[in-house]
Amino acid sequence: MVLNKEKLDLGGLKIPKHVAVIMDGNGRWAKKRMLPRQAGHRAGVENLREIIDSCIEFNIEILTIYAFSTENWTRPESEVRGLMRIFARVLDQEIYDLHDQGVRVSHIGDLNGVAPLLQEKVNRAIELTKGNDRLLLNVAFNYGGRAEIVHATRRILADGLSPDDLDEETFGKYLFTAGVPDPDLLIRTSGEYRISNFLIWQAAYSEYYLTPVYWPDFGRAELYEALVSYTGRDRRFGALAT
Ligand code: IPE
Ligand code: IPE
Ligand code: MG
Repeated sequence: MVLNKEKLDLGGLKIPKHVAVIMDGNGRWAKKRMLPRQAGHRAGVENLREIIDSCIEFNIEILTIYAFSTENWTRPESEVRGLMRIFARVLDQEIYDLHDQGVRVSHIGDLNGVAPLLQEKVNRAIELTKGNDRLLLNVAFNYGGRAEIVHATRRILADGLSPDDLDEETFGKYLFTAGVPDPDLLIRTSGEYRISNFLIWQAAYSEYYLTPVYWPDFGRAELYEALVSYTGRDRRFGALAT
């Protein structure tokens, strides 16, 4: 709970409908404090609480978070196990608070690749919160943009679509994000300037906000700064400025 929240001026702010976040820098946050990487991941999850609260406060409708990529399996087994433990705990304990707040949880990625018990927890969270409409929290877990495109293409072929029936809109319906509008604002923390296989189709025209701040330190005030930056953007989508 954040007491005495600094008053932020929301007037005149353009609020993106869909914000996507590459929550990066947990490990370096911990290292800077001489803590184990797992402490950084724990701090990262705690911070997510504040960001979810802030999205609700700022009237953002959709928040997509990159929690675990298809490439993150290549990390040491102990770190992967630690991350899975954190996900399981969040799904067990925090899901009720999220539900009370009106958060609807959804998942993008391949659940087949994760432990059956964790699959069950994810599915239970989705089922529990499916009637909520305050904020859609879309969790990219065992997610990779390339894998998503291959997965979609396989399903298109399996459905026997003829080449003439395939256009961008139809393709989008085969992606994990079907029915969800593309992200307006894509935030990456920790000072990296890359997409790391996140929403490579959907972010074609997203506005990017890159900040050196490590994810556990990216709180309400930093999200507000990102919104201020977004407000100043001129989204042209290839056309001329109006
Ligand atoms: C992001 O933080 C969390 C996950 C990828 C799961 P990192 O673990 O990548 O932190 P850094 O990049 O090593 O600092
Ligand atoms: C991207 O961060 C994945 C998540 C935040 C879950 P990484 O730390 O895995 O990305 P790279 O390896 O720096 O590109
Ligand atoms: Mg990283």
